[in-house]
Amino acid sequence: MDRIRIVGGNRLNGRVPISGAKNAALPLMIASLLTDQTLTLDNVPRLADVEQLKRILGNHGLDYSVDGKRPGPEVYPGDTVHFTARTIVDTTAPYELVSKMRASFWVVGPLLARMGEARVSLPGGCAIGTRPVDFFIEALKQLGADIDVDAGYVVATARRGLRGARIVLPGVSVGATHVTMMAATLARGETVIENAAREPEIVDLALCLNKMGARITGAGTPTIVIEGVPRLEGARHAVMPDRIESGTYAMAVTMTGGDLVLEGARADTLAEPMKILRAVGAEIDETNDGIRVRRNGHGLAPVDVITDPFPGFPTDLQAQLMALVSRAEGTSHIRETIFENRFMHVQELARLGADIKLDGQTATVRGVSGLKGAQVMATDLRASVSLVIAGLAAQGETTINRVYHLDRGFERIETKLGGVGAEIERLSG
Ligand code: EPZ
Repeated sequence: MDRIRIVGGNRLNGRVPISGAKNAALPLMIASLLTDQTLTLDNVPRLADVEQLKRILGNHGLDYSVDGKRPGPEVYPGDTVHFTARTIVDTTAPYELVSKMRASFWVVGPLLARMGEARVSLPGGCAIGTRPVDFFIEALKQLGADIDVDAGYVVATARRGLRGARIVLPGVSVGATHVTMMAATLARGETVIENAAREPEIVDLALCLNKMGARITGAGTPTIVIEGVPRLEGARHAVMPDRIESGTYAMAVTMTGGDLVLEGARADTLAEPMKILRAVGAEIDETNDGIRVRRNGHGLAPVDVITDPFPGFPTDLQAQLMALVSRAEGTSHIRETIFENRFMHVQELARLGADIKLDGQTATVRGVSGLKGAQVMATDLRASVSLVIAGLAAQGETTINRVYHLDRGFERIETKLGGVGAEIERLSG
């Protein structure tokens, strides 16, 4: 298994290209099941989760082709991928595939809308929580589906097609919002989704679906209205830049000191993280090609943060923030409200010398003057990158094991960080 080795202490200076957002690319790829035409996506990130989803969609009959590498100095343009689900050959998403990546459960919406049936394995829990799908099931029932949960599978049928409904999601859920919105595009009549998630990735999906002929308004607000249409066409859409990757590199340079331009980062998707980072001690400016983040000299200030659905502070940046404030001059409090077990990084950060106490969903981080490199273990996607941030500032060598977690959501992290001055390398085997 690959490992990442870091020797801490270097400042980061230069330009980091931000890749297409994993959490936009996944629902956008799933949306290609809604039409028999070709959906072309630009700026698709090269990530393990994207490759895994290509395999899962292939199981349903989707074909895809990737445009060849274009000549020239460009290093990080995302892939242009053409996705075509001309016919759906199988409406079952099996456990061995869905259990590898929770978001693959989301195929249930397009399969049901297009084929009138879907048999999708329950995704099961994961490292950060149980993550049920009750909101999805309730919403699809209100759209007219008959749903059974049998032997670990959600079995959904809608022989007479789906019909629009007014759906109040019991809790704010990104996945349930994506799936309900996709299914409603082909339902007869109007659907209103109340208490919808407002994440930018929802807006990106709605933009793409509307290019395909859907009629969606209100994405990005708590109320989304979808006017059903008989069919969707092909389209071309560029995946939005990854706000979590952007926030991660912003925290890295705030931790190490230096001056980074995050090429392609979109400030409008990062307001809360930028507010918190400025409070910690970063200088952040919007530039015409992204965001510039600097910290030179002075120390880090502690902060109190509660994770919240967008536009609040994202849970996907919680572990990274914890690594950053582990060296603040004072005590920070971080409260995780989205997932019940998203503190797996705490004991690993402690191995590097961080002083963190957990009390239920709140972590008290007492800043220490320095961290010391050690062997640590990645546990989930975002926890693993918090160890990278800590390792960049720790004295001496840090080796992070099980970096396949990293590869799920951060494209070429060692190349991007190495390119701006970090002493970092991937050790294979
Ligand atoms: C999406 O997961 C993201 N994944 C997650 O990012 C992100 O952390 C999460 O949204 C919250 O922002 C993708 O976009 C692929 P939820 P999702 O449904 O949709 C509960 C990463 O690191 N809930 O918004 O699965 C659920 O248990 C990943 O990139 C129900 O109770 O998250 C959780 O407590 C990690 N019943 C809360 O809602 C349901 O039916 C929010 O979950 C659905 C959700």
